[in-house]
Formats: sequence, structure tokens, C-alpha cells
Amino acid sequence: MTEWGGVAGKRVVLTGGTNGIGLAAAIELARRGADLTLVARNEARAADAVRRISAVSAGRVPDVMLADLASQSSIRRLADELLARYPRIQVLVNNAGAIYARRQMSADGIELTWAVNHLAPFLLTTLLLDRLTASRPARIVTTSSGAHEGARIPFDDLNAERAWGGAGFTRYGETKLANILFTVELARRLEGTGVTANAFHPGFVATGFNRNNGVLMRLGMAITRPFARSPQKGAESLVWLVDAEDASQLNGAYIFDRRPVAPSPAAQNVEAARRLWQISEEQTGGPTSRLSSAGANPEP
Ligand SMILES: NC(=O)c1ccc[n+]([C@@H]2O[C@H](COP(=O)([O-])OP(=O)(O)OC[C@H]3O[C@@H](n4cnc5c(N)ncnc54)[C@H](OP(=O)(O)O)[C@@H]3O)[C@@H](O)[C@H]2O)c1
Repeated sequence: MTEWGGVAGKRVVLTGGTNGIGLAAAIELARRGADLTLVARNEARAADAVRRISAVSAGRVPDVMLADLASQSSIRRLADELLARYPRIQVLVNNAGAIYARRQMSADGIELTWAVNHLAPFLLTTLLLDRLTASRPARIVTTSSGAHEGARIPFDDLNAERAWGGAGFTRYGETKLANILFTVELARRLEGTGVTANAFHPGFVATGFNRNNGVLMRLGMAITRPFARSPQKGAESLVWLVDAEDASQLNGAYIFDRRPVAPSPAAQNVEAARRLWQISEEQTGGPTSRLSSAGANPEP
């Protein structure tokens, strides 16, 4: 297997780097010499993150690309810009995510949590997959959550029209299960290509998570804050998956505290992982890369 050699000098595209776990990871990766590209939806917040990251990165100023990950056309534009700008992309981190207490629809007619947390990573990854493969060795890391435990993918109700429970937490858990199933199927398709795909759980972390859901949720987050980890601690597994030589051995793994752990039985269901891939292709307008349904490692 080709040596990884750490993240220094490698192009790392990271979503959700303007706050919380993603910002803490970006600061540490920049400190370790990564060439960072932040994907952000808000210019001012991105500029603030760039200032904070540049302060530790010995003159390496991260690039910023603006995109709203709730919109598939925005993701497609983003991928075009990334492909035009970078001949090599060695790392993609799908970290942006959110919970919505109230059911909302994206401009594409898809329930918003599903659009941002699952379909955005799926579409961005598949659009960049050929470039990642050409840049091998390469790594794809997706931020999942322990909230996937107990969830099932509602294949007959993907827009959550029938069920909306727990102030958005049921739906959130489904999307975090989808992150793992996506990683499982992606890893299978990537076998032997020099590209790996892994997911991780950051723990319960004090971030901006759930602050978009009104006063009560903000209060709830403030009360539980003393029990939460710091963003730096929450970012440790992400940084490890991107940088560590040891992580080269992993493909399709679910990591907690820098160690592979077993996700829920539903997250290990390879049939569900395959089905989810096909449905996700349909929801994003069809196959986008060589590793699509008709791709290099077709279904056995
Ligand atoms: N905090 C926890 O306890 C916890 C636990 C398990 C898993 N996670 C996961 O960790 C990841 C990061 O969350 P966090 O806790 O760090 O929360 P956060 O502080 O709210 O950060 C979320 C990041 O995602 C970005 N984002 C959200 N929606 C976006 C969109 N439509 N387009 C582009 N960017 C968007 C945000 O950008 P803005 O700055 O513009 O809002 C922000 O940079 C998420 O995937 C979350 O599910 C968190």
C-alpha cells in the first residue's frame, strides 16, 4: 500500500469549517500544513474562519468556496469550481450538518435534513470521486453521529411526510445512519482504488448545533453545555482520519475516539447500503462517476 505521509501539502476540501467541529479541525489541519479549501455558505463567517485559521498556519491562507449545501445546483456549481481549480484533491471531509426542529423542504423538493446531511455529502463526493481517485492515495471522511443508534432508513417515506418525531431528532438520526450506510457502500466501491472512505462520531460537542431552532433549543443546548466536549476534542477523530498513517488501513469504518467501533446493526446492513446508494442517485439526478451503479466495482 502507498504510504500516506500525513496531510502536509495535501489539498483538503472541508465542508462546515466555519464553526464547531469543522472549524476546530480546520485549525488543526492547517497547523499540520494542509492546503485547505473551506466550503461555506456565508461569506462573512467564512472570512472570520479564514482569519482564525491563518493565525496558526504559517502564512497558508485557506481558500474559500461559497455553496449552499441544501441546494443541488449549488453543489454542482461548487464541484465544477473545485475541479477547475485543483488538479489534485487528496481529501474530502463531509462535515457540515444540521438538525431542523420543524419539517422544511429544500428548493429541490427534498426534506431539508435529508438534503443537507445525506444528499449533499453523497452528491459532492460522487461528483469529486474521479478527481480523488486520480489523486490517490486519497481519503474521504464523513461526520456521522451516535444519534444513528436506533434509527432506520424510512425507504417508503424518505421525505418524512408521515412521521416527524422528537423535534427533528428522529429525522436527524436517520440522516446520520445514512452517513454510515453511504460510507459502507462507498468503501465497497472504492476497494483497491487507493481511496478510502470512513465515518466518525465526534461525541457530544459544544458547538452551534441546534441553535437554529429557536429559544427553547438554544436554552437546552446551553444547559447541557457543561457536559459537552470542546470542539477541539470533538475534532480529534476527524483530524486523525485525515492525517494519521494508521488510518490508511481503514476503509468503511466507523470511528469514535480514534478507534474503529461497531455502529448499530442497521448501519451494518449492506443491502440497505446498496439500496440507499441507488435511491440517492435517483434523488440527485443519476450516476455521476465511474463508481456509479454501473461502475468499477459493480454489485457482486
Ligand atoms: N455537536 C455535536 O454534539 C455533534 C454530535 C455528533 C455529530 N455532529 C455532527 O458534526 C457536524 C458538525 O456540526 P457541529 O456540531 O460542529 O455544528 P455547528 O457548529 O452548527 O456547525 C455546522 C457547520 O455546518 C455548516 N452548514 C450547515 N448547513 C449548511 C448548508 N446548508 N450549507 C453549507 N454549510 C452548512 C455551518 O455553516 P454556518 O456557519 O454558515 O452555519 C457550520 O459550518 C454535523 O454533521 C453534525 O451532525 C455534531
